[in-house]
Amino acid sequence: METSPVSHALLQTSRAILALAAAGMAPAAESQSPASPAAPTITIDAGQIKGRSSPILYGLMTEEINYSYDGGLYGELIANRAFKDSPDSPAHWSVSTANGGVGAISMDESQPLNDALHTSLKFEFKAAGPGQRVGLSNEGFWGIPILPSTVYDASFYAKAAPGFKGPVTIALAGNDSPTTFAIALVPVLSETWNKYSVRLKTRADIAPSKNNHFVLWTTGAGTIWLQNISLFPPTYNNRPNGNRPDIMRLLAEYQPKFLRIPGGNYLEGNTLATRFNWKETIGDVSQRPGHMNDAWRYHSSDGMGLLEFLEWCEDLRMQPLLAVYAGLALRNGGAVAPGADLAPYVQDALDEIEYVTGDANTQWGARRAKDGHPAPFALTYVEIGNEDWKETYDGRFTQFYDAIKSKYPQLQLIDSSARSAANGKVTTYAKSRKADVYDCHLYTRSEQQSEARSTDYDTYDRAGPKIFEGEWATRVGTPTPNMAGAIGDAAYMTGLERNSDIVVMASYAPLFVNVNRGAMQWPTDLIGYDALHCYGSPAFYAQAMFNNNRGDEILATSAANVGMRTWQGFPNRGGQPPAPQQLPTLFYVATRDSKTGVVYLKMVNPLDTPQDVRVEIHGAGAVGPDGESVIMKASSLAATNSLEEPRKIVPVTARESGFGASFIRTLAPYSINILKISTRSP
Ligand code: AHR
Repeated sequence: METSPVSHALLQTSRAILALAAAGMAPAAESQSPASPAAPTITIDAGQIKGRSSPILYGLMTEEINYSYDGGLYGELIANRAFKDSPDSPAHWSVSTANGGVGAISMDESQPLNDALHTSLKFEFKAAGPGQRVGLSNEGFWGIPILPSTVYDASFYAKAAPGFKGPVTIALAGNDSPTTFAIALVPVLSETWNKYSVRLKTRADIAPSKNNHFVLWTTGAGTIWLQNISLFPPTYNNRPNGNRPDIMRLLAEYQPKFLRIPGGNYLEGNTLATRFNWKETIGDVSQRPGHMNDAWRYHSSDGMGLLEFLEWCEDLRMQPLLAVYAGLALRNGGAVAPGADLAPYVQDALDEIEYVTGDANTQWGARRAKDGHPAPFALTYVEIGNEDWKETYDGRFTQFYDAIKSKYPQLQLIDSSARSAANGKVTTYAKSRKADVYDCHLYTRSEQQSEARSTDYDTYDRAGPKIFEGEWATRVGTPTPNMAGAIGDAAYMTGLERNSDIVVMASYAPLFVNVNRGAMQWPTDLIGYDALHCYGSPAFYAQAMFNNNRGDEILATSAANVGMRTWQGFPNRGGQPPAPQQLPTLFYVATRDSKTGVVYLKMVNPLDTPQDVRVEIHGAGAVGPDGESVIMKASSLAATNSLEEPRKIVPVTARESGFGASFIRTLAPYSINILKISTRSP
């Protein structure tokens, strides 16, 4: 049958409607819900792609702070295993005796294991009557976690003085009762340094506990010297010298895309001697001297060394973002002068890149293979220094830049001296060379301050270097952020994501905190733990929500009728308070998955009241009525997660209906909302 152009068009339209109906979708013009004239309206122009969202936008930043590795992610359970924590006394170690045994421990430099671990622990059992024994105990990092049906690997280096007969017993024991959870025996010790290893298995019927200690005891009189006394629980992916499984599993939920290593101030240290000297962090742990982490005021075993960082990346499928030491000491040492003085540090950086990326035919690639990882790691980004806000950076940056670019032209180099302002302007001390990426840091003191900074990159020059938000956080809540922090973070992330054509990566900092008293140097950290348990803060889950629900196309999105509220910003250091600022009461961003057509609309309601929001989707052709929501909300801004209530505030996923080209949703007070809406191209 012939049709006129008009009837042909009608036919096509009705065919299209039928097809959409069969697919369960509504044509774009159809209204799904009555509108409230006063409701804020978010309009997504699905026909206008503003940019491609960086596939590696959300990642992690890490350093040794707040007992992040020793006493944190790194599996080692013995505190001060190499007797370096204090020069005068064996911190965390003590002597226990039974039935009148007399014993003593002391630091002894006369019997070094090697040049790296030069001070041994001298353990003397001075009298050995019947039934007497003397034990050497380690309290662990605020306890030793004991789990049922678990195998622990204990090892130590020992040298016996002539006449010491042994045996030596290794045990895991309770602090409050004479319970021994697991025990193993080393029958004899030799009179030269040797490594001894035993396995300790706990019974199935014990309850998990942390109020425990490790003990090595003897019933034979005499003297022994000990070094590198180690105890490992099972690790993630069973890696030797590996990581705590519970924290790794929590991180895996987030699916971070990169890991910025190894700092932070930890990269630099207060002096040249206390920098993260990567060459001293590789190989057998008994050959690693460790170093004073004076940036954060405690000793680092360097058990978490360069290769362990890289294997952490491998385990979670993250790419490493390597920060190389750029010749700046935080305090006394000042900055190394460019030229001949700086050359060894530049060479160290080139060697480090070769250790990461070189094949086994290169000098440092061969060393990595010898250390147990023959395959090279992929590396795209190298950062030169950390927060290097110094006039001297220009000369140092130039020397590093030229050397690295000439050997590795494919690497993207990051300028660590950059700072961004609220108006989208970025300033840098690196004038002679233009970096590929600027690392800008932003720590705010309230959720409103983060909200105010959520538009920073809307006006950033698209022709400029890309942006890496290498450290950022809304610092509200301690030891981990509360819901106020999460709300501020989520509002800020809408800005990062809206601008993720140029903001290529972002990482919250700091990542970890051991929540025990005395462990924390920096309040407001993403993940908290003690010896036995860990938990994610609401801010952690906000990031996981954002990362796991994101498309590759940034859609043009605008809002009308959004309420405003007044915020009085903080005075600058010593200055007058700025003029009060008007802040919106709704934050949003929309992206679309180009393969599936799913639109991810993120909305943040910072108010203590619900908000009705009308959503309009233009240019999508068709919008499916059924979808999904992922929502995290709290009854107060102070609400938070903790060891006691680790999942009090978490995202909840639900099926949704009633989506369309125009619909209304009510956002709960203090809520972070993601709607996953099915769309089809016109
Ligand atoms: O994240 C804590 C510290 O903040 C980092 O070590 C440093 O880079 C920044 O000043």
